Amino acid sequence: MTRFRSCQGLEPESGNSDSVESYKNNTNIMRFGMINKDLTNTSVFEHGGRVFAIAENHLPYEIELSDLNTLNTWDINGAWDRPFTSHPKRDPLTGEMVIMGVDAKKPYYVIGVISADGKNLVHKADLKFERNSFPHELGITKNFNVIMDYPFTFDRRRLINGGPFLKFEHDQPARIGVMPRYGDAASIAWFDVQTHCSFHIINSFEDGDEVVIRGCRANGAVFPGPDLGINIHEWYSRAFSPIRKDAEGFDPSIDSILLTRAYEWRLNMKNGSVTEGYLTSPEVSMDFPVINDNFVCTKNKYAYTQVVDSAESSKIGLAKYNMFAKLHFEELGASHLQKGGKKRIKVEYHRLEKNEFCDGVVFVARPGSTEEDDGWILCFIHNENTNTSHVERMVLEGLACLLHMIGLYAPNQNKN
Ligand SMILES: [Fe+2]
Repeated sequence: MTRFRSCQGLEPESGNSDSVESYKNNTNIMRFGMINKDLTNTSVFEHGGRVFAIAENHLPYEIELSDLNTLNTWDINGAWDRPFTSHPKRDPLTGEMVIMGVDAKKPYYVIGVISADGKNLVHKADLKFERNSFPHELGITKNFNVIMDYPFTFDRRRLINGGPFLKFEHDQPARIGVMPRYGDAASIAWFDVQTHCSFHIINSFEDGDEVVIRGCRANGAVFPGPDLGINIHEWYSRAFSPIRKDAEGFDPSIDSILLTRAYEWRLNMKNGSVTEGYLTSPEVSMDFPVINDNFVCTKNKYAYTQVVDSAESSKIGLAKYNMFAKLHFEELGASHLQKGGKKRIKVEYHRLEKNEFCDGVVFVARPGSTEEDDGWILCFIHNENTNTSHVERMVLEGLACLLHMIGLYAPNQNKN
């Protein structure tokens, strides 16, 4: 059952006059680099017993689970009036939720901590960013918030000069910040890292003197696509495909920039050093990682990703996924990156049927389980031969209610 309710931003945009349409397009492009805004099509999450749908350019909308009706926006009792990350992080020990809001106007990056019951914003800090970068996710460890800052940027001057408002600048620097949970801009320890574009974090945790971040890393961004005048199909084909650096005509600003692999950064809080490197094969692109949420902030052993069908993705210019992968970190020693980072972790693959593609993978822990990988993978699968979709449940029984975009499995709840 589905319910529709117009979002606030759509209401003034629903008129048919050219002026309204023009205003809508211009302001949304100016603000978001895209025509549509006020969407909630990116993720679903639960906090304080309530369920929300979110896209990162607006506040979350609450959903009534019993009938999937759309309720109101959630501004945490008026304390949050800006964009809200699509991937908030809940500390499994305290129950608190850490959020960020990245905007195209100052303050560019604000971090917040929401109480476990969801009633109060207990901490809020402007991180005083000077660059208008647009990271998609933050991480948390037991004591810290992990701030990703890479050169995927908004730039009004670039737009005025005829360029894209949102662009990945492959020749600009990247850094990762580690701040105490209730810290501020002055208390962040910054670490310079190799330039990257890593939309999704797998997990982060503390390991001795180091803060460890694992994510799905690429060398470029799928948005907004190639610059004007460049052949779109050729650009995507080269961007999604595994192309070796020693290949003739290799261009680091295009070739393989969308090939996304599991990656690890180790940030030493004592001496400020950084070690970093890939964990998975250069032949396989994967993204949209999920883990058992009970293991957020801890040194976990497993993650699950969607594997890109590079050939099919190149044809349409968007990623299509034809496999799942289970990543095994348990044999990964802390020293492997110092030794050159050539060790690849064990990966198990589950290939779908021909012309089947998946999206929206979630991991559901078995109730009462203590083993990290004791649970199920849920995902929507679309069969292009029959043009039908279904929910795939792997080793899953008792499926009651699945909310999909990315992020939430909710067992059936009978509310009185
Ligand atoms: Fe995402």
